[in-house]
Amino acid sequence: VKRKQRWAVFISGRGSNLQALLDLSGEVETVLVVSSRKQAPGLWRARRAGVPTTVLPKTIDWDDLDAQLRRHRVSAIVLAGFMKIVPESFIERWKGLIFNLHPSLLPLYPGMNSIECSYRDRAAMGVSFHHVVPEVDAGEILLQKQVFKRSEALELGLTLEEAEFFIHVTEHRVMREAIGYRAWI
Ligand code: GAR
Repeated sequence: VKRKQRWAVFISGRGSNLQALLDLSGEVETVLVVSSRKQAPGLWRARRAGVPTTVLPKTIDWDDLDAQLRRHRVSAIVLAGFMKIVPESFIERWKGLIFNLHPSLLPLYPGMNSIECSYRDRAAMGVSFHHVVPEVDAGEILLQKQVFKRSEALELGLTLEEAEFFIHVTEHRVMREAIGYRAWI
């Protein structure tokens, strides 16, 4: 039996992947939402769901954030569109308990603009859920789903926006499966 996991979700924007977790209410406990941007629409999703939020200052005090996470008795962290680099010391403290969702078939297309770049290259496209390690988008892959085979998005005549839509839908599914139904921690 899985012990009760108390998740913190780190966001910077829309928060549609956060929403996928909030929709799992009952099975997954999201106890804190951390945003690097005050205007992130995802904050509104958290508030509507009654989940406490914290907005990070421009210069992030990682020790203070760590203290807040402990105060909320967070047991694991997932980065869901969090656009700040997490320092090595913080990752070390949360070793094995910090995860990331990324919109490509890692190790292909790490970093920014992964959907756009893989689309333009006519590469295979998909989603990865992985452990966070100090090197960006490089930790052990725990779950991966392919959405389009090589050239497929273009053969289907999909625009970038349409391809993106399918990637996001799959992300939400991967998020729910990874956190709701699997026991990584
Ligand atoms: C998602 O596509 C996520 O995979 C991506 O940002 C988007 C956030 O959407 N993350 C990265 O690119 C991290 N390198 P959301 O705010 O609607 O969940």
